[in-house]
Order: sequence, then structure tokens, then C-alpha cells
Amino acid sequence: MKVAITGKGGVGKTTIAGTVARQMARRGRPIVALDCDPNPTLGISLGLTREQIAGLQPVINALWDSGYTHDDPKISPDELLHRYGFEAPDGVRLLLTGLIEPTPGRCVCCGSHSTTRAVFGEIEAADRHVIADLEAGLNDLIWAHPAPGDTVLIVVEESAKSIEIGVRAVGLAREMGVDRILGVANRCLASGGSERLAEALGVDMLALPEDPAVEEASRLGIALLDHAAASPAALAIERIAERLA
Ligand SMILES: Nc1ncnc2c1ncn2[C@@H]1O[C@H](COP(=O)(O)OP(=O)(O)O)[C@@H](O)[C@H]1O
Ligand SMILES: [Mg+2]
Repeated sequence: MKVAITGKGGVGKTTIAGTVARQMARRGRPIVALDCDPNPTLGISLGLTREQIAGLQPVINALWDSGYTHDDPKISPDELLHRYGFEAPDGVRLLLTGLIEPTPGRCVCCGSHSTTRAVFGEIEAADRHVIADLEAGLNDLIWAHPAPGDTVLIVVEESAKSIEIGVRAVGLAREMGVDRILGVANRCLASGGSERLAEALGVDMLALPEDPAVEEASRLGIALLDHAAASPAALAIERIAERLA
């Protein structure tokens, strides 16, 4: 199964991606966590240390450093995972598609996006789950191009801007033929908020409560599961993991 997690910036995509990936891995499935954000932070939500994060090699940057060009033969996602993947807690295999760096003469933006397309589109997911934490907004969803059989998880909050992006994400996912589209209603404070978001997007919605433990973990720079595994948010994300699996 491949899951593309999308939505407006700051709505909780990375927190959910990192936590879900580890919870699914604990159920015994091989998990690939793809950090497709050119400002990658999934390593933090997965529970990597600062030193480990500093040592990560995003695919496109590593390839460029090795002298690779577009004219060279394509490298398979599994070879990229082998070369540049990093073993995160609970056995999750983390791969970063690309990091924005000012590099004269190179289109960095396309680099990360086209690597997202190549890896997410071509990785074999029959015997494992692939969880992709996409860049904020909809551009990366188009690049990732989930297909029929894949899942798109759209994270929304009760803000007009986040709903606007969520509704467009549903439309794009449907245009791409994705039949499994789920929403996460994050931090809904007003009662009935989750139901209103479900109605606005027209998809099944799972709720994730506002939880100070998430902010604390964020401030400390550690994974939610390493900070407060029994917190309401961690338990709610566990239900999202169960639904996805
Ligand atoms: N349910 C929640 N309760 C409290 N804080 C949250 C919750 N979800 C997300 N946050 C906080 O919101 C911020 C953005 O979360 P993040 O997962 O990085 O979002 P995104 O990847 O969508 O940009 C972080 O500081 C995170 O701790
Ligand atoms: Mg993020």
C-alpha cells in the first residue's frame, strides 16, 4: 500500500506521517517513510537524533554530488533505498527525496519533485507500506501522482484556507483515479468540527484532537511516540494507522 499525505502547511502532515509509520512498523509490516518535502523534517517526527538527521543523504543531492546527470540510467527505488535510506526507530526505512540548496545551474525544485515522482510512482509496495509525507500545498501531490490502488490522506484543520486546499486535493486525487481518499480533521475545537470537515470535503474523516503533548514533543525535537506514547493524539493516530492498514 502507498499512502500520500497532503494538505496545507502546518496542519500536522509530518507529525501524522512519522507517528503512523512507526505504529504500522510495530505491527510487523516493512515500512518505507518517504520525506518528499524539500525542507525535510520527517526524521524528527520519526525520532531520529540531531546527529542522525545531520547525516541523512537526500536522494537528489547525493546523486548530484556523485556526478549523476539526467542522461545516466535511471536508478531503481530499491537501489536508492539501499544507498540512501536510513534505518529509523521501529525499523522504518526513511528516504528523503531532496533538500533545497542554492546550487548554481541546477533546478533544485524540479530535482526534489521529480525524485518524488520517480520514487513514489515506481516503488513496489505489494509487501510493504509506503508512507509519503508530501510538501505543503498541491504541487507535490500532482508530482507524486498517486494512482488507483493508492491512498491519499488529506489533513485539514477548521480554517477556510486549509479547507480550500483540502477540497482541491480531493478533486485532484479523484482526477488521478484514486479511489481511497481519507481525511484527518486535526485540532478541531468546536463540537461537530470533524463532521463539518467531512461534509466540506466529501470524504470519510478521522479526528485528531488538539493535544499539548504534540507541541511539547515538537518543542523538544523528539517523536510524539518517544515523548507521550499514550497521549490522546498518539492514540488517535493509532486509529488512523489501523484504518489505513
Ligand atoms: N493535534 C495537534 N495538537 C497540537 N499541536 C499539533 C497538533 N498537530 C500538529 N501540531 C503542531 O503543529 C505544528 C505543525 O505540525 P507538522 O506536523 O509539522 O505540520 P505539517 O507537516 O503539515 O507542516 C507542529 O508544531 C506540531 O507540533
Ligand atoms: Mg511537514
